[in-house]
Amino acid sequence: MLSLSSIQKPVQAEMKQFEDYFRDSMKSKVPLLDLVMNYLIRRKGKQMRPLLVFLSAQLNGTISPGTYTGAALIELLHTASLIHDDVVDESYLRRGFFSINALWRNKIAVLSGDYLLSKGLLISIENNQVDLLKIVSEAVREMSEGELLQMEKARKLDITEEVYYEIIRKKTATLIASCSAVGAKSVNAGEDKVQLMKEFGMAVGIAFQIKDDIFDYEASGKIGKPTANDIKEKKMTLPLIYALNNASSQEKRHIIRLVKNRHSNPEKLHEIIQFVVDKGGIRYATEQMTVYKDKAINLLQEYPESPAKTSLLDLVTFTTTRSK
Ligand code: IPE
Ligand code: IPE
Ligand code: MG
Ligand code: MG
Repeated sequence: MLSLSSIQKPVQAEMKQFEDYFRDSMKSKVPLLDLVMNYLIRRKGKQMRPLLVFLSAQLNGTISPGTYTGAALIELLHTASLIHDDVVDESYLRRGFFSINALWRNKIAVLSGDYLLSKGLLISIENNQVDLLKIVSEAVREMSEGELLQMEKARKLDITEEVYYEIIRKKTATLIASCSAVGAKSVNAGEDKVQLMKEFGMAVGIAFQIKDDIFDYEASGKIGKPTANDIKEKKMTLPLIYALNNASSQEKRHIIRLVKNRHSNPEKLHEIIQFVVDKGGIRYATEQMTVYKDKAINLLQEYPESPAKTSLLDLVTFTTTRSK
């Protein structure tokens, strides 16, 4: 089983230094914000995005101060988006512990998310990294669009596979694409390389979100956040979309009615999950995830062998085999 600590090896010293840099970038003199920030530092996530920034930088050149700024900018925005996402999704568990909205309520969660967002903007301006900010800002715009498109589809329950891909590309994959693009850009890679790395990150990001959506169908208590939450929020993701497309119109109507009623009744939830499994929805989503994983791996082919390349390839595999 691949672990992030082994994948991290080629940039271990840099990731260690990044920790301090990231912590400092979150500091606040306002006591309540400082409390929330300290909580976030203690409950940090996998930090897959900064890792992707550093490995992509090393693959394309020599890690520079801009690489740190880019990594911090992205992790700040990612953290902000999770805090806001848990408000929107009414989700009370994150990274194995209470979410910010669970502990401090929505108002403080929204404002803390905004604070992190502003810190991200400031850190890139202060370090004269407007190029990096430009790449990431576009991703942030797309994230908002993706989340809103998802909300619209949850209301109408008329999502197709095509729209599903548009949603996950926007809400998740563009930010991950910006990790690898920012990494390359931060070491002055040529425009063709930056584009290639962006495409690579996009494929990784799509595989990453399909995996996340599969997690939602698994038993709770393993991934550090609630499961079956997407169904409760009426979010129809790839496993369910596929299952519905392969059901009789009678079955389809029945399941859509269950989803529509926002059942938190465990029996009804179980019925939906069982339907998805029986129709091969999980198997299908896993196959599609593998298509994007392979696409990402192929994109790196033109790079010569190096420790950074090996780790990036492992990171792609980790994305699809991870347990949280
Ligand atoms: C969670 O991302 C949000 C999604 C895009 C699915 P991560 O799984 O990378 O979250 P952390 O930072 O490790 O908690
Ligand atoms: C990804 O969607 C969230 C963001 C891109 C902010 P989810 O709602 O599926 O993420 P989790 O499962 O809560 O982490
Ligand atoms: Mg969520
Ligand atoms: Mg999810």
